[in-house]
Amino acid sequence: MIEIKTAKDMQCVTKTYRKEGKTIGFVPTMGFLHEGHMALAEKARKENDIVVMSIFVNPLQFGPGEDFESYPRDIERDRKLAEGGGVDVLFTPAPEDMYQQESTVIVNVKKRTDVLCGRSRVGHFDGVATVLTKLFNLTSPTRVYFGMKDAQQVAVVDGLINDFFMDIKLVPVDTVREEDGLAKSSRNVYLSKSEREEAAALYQSLQHGARLIADGERNPDVIMEEVRGMLNKTSGVIDYAEIYSYPDLKSREMLSGKIIIAVAVKFSKARLIDNIIIDIPDDRKEDL
Ligand code: PAJ
Repeated sequence: MIEIKTAKDMQCVTKTYRKEGKTIGFVPTMGFLHEGHMALAEKARKENDIVVMSIFVNPLQFGPGEDFESYPRDIERDRKLAEGGGVDVLFTPAPEDMYQQESTVIVNVKKRTDVLCGRSRVGHFDGVATVLTKLFNLTSPTRVYFGMKDAQQVAVVDGLINDFFMDIKLVPVDTVREEDGLAKSSRNVYLSKSEREEAAALYQSLQHGARLIADGERNPDVIMEEVRGMLNKTSGVIDYAEIYSYPDLKSREMLSGKIIIAVAVKFSKARLIDNIIIDIPDDRKEDL
């Protein structure tokens, strides 16, 4: 594995790979790697000649009062994990290198951001789309790998790639979970012991919602009242617990097609998110 620290060097290296006709799988991360990130790298390893992973805690996607400064970092450990996970190129730029001067252009995401994390974290997805545009230009990927844990991010990246005619294939990867169902996250280290136990309720509430749908419930209000009821039993505070069509993230009076149930709960030092996506079969067809 080689490590590249500047944008210029990254662009130089990708150019060489492209000239040699190699396919590039790109895994963008903010580091403090765990099995979730490594699942993306593993898939990229199987599908590409070269695997590039970036580690960059992107200041532009953190709002005032969010955890940019305290976001967990451990680059030594990350280097070892990345190397063991089959990464060929680790890209670790400094903020001054990614944002060299006052920005001339910021990518403004127009749709799919008025709900869920986009509503609670104003400007967050503009920051994500902007840094990804930069990273995609630097790494020139054939395929990019994103975790479904951040399903709204996947919906936004899908829009970014399509709207800007980027010649990149988006590969979504299933959420990797702890044994009790809690989605792996760099922020789980902030949970106290009792919060860690309670946090399993996020996935349990989603599974309960999925079960109600499987049993024929199609009224979103009925489903979300039960989901919220389960989350309210924890000491955390619900940031949101909502149900939408996916990936366009629109409200529905009656559920049909592909839908997402998404939840975010604030514990004392960590805000956790999780979601489940369900393909609802066309009920009318079933009756025929
Ligand atoms: P980060 O939170 O580090 O996540 C990097 C990638 O890992 C994302 O695609 C995320 O969805 C995926 N991931 C995280 N936890 C996962 C899990 N338990 N199972 C599967 N995949 C998981 O998301 C970001 O960084 C940033 O917004 C970024 C895209 C790098 C832009 O700055």
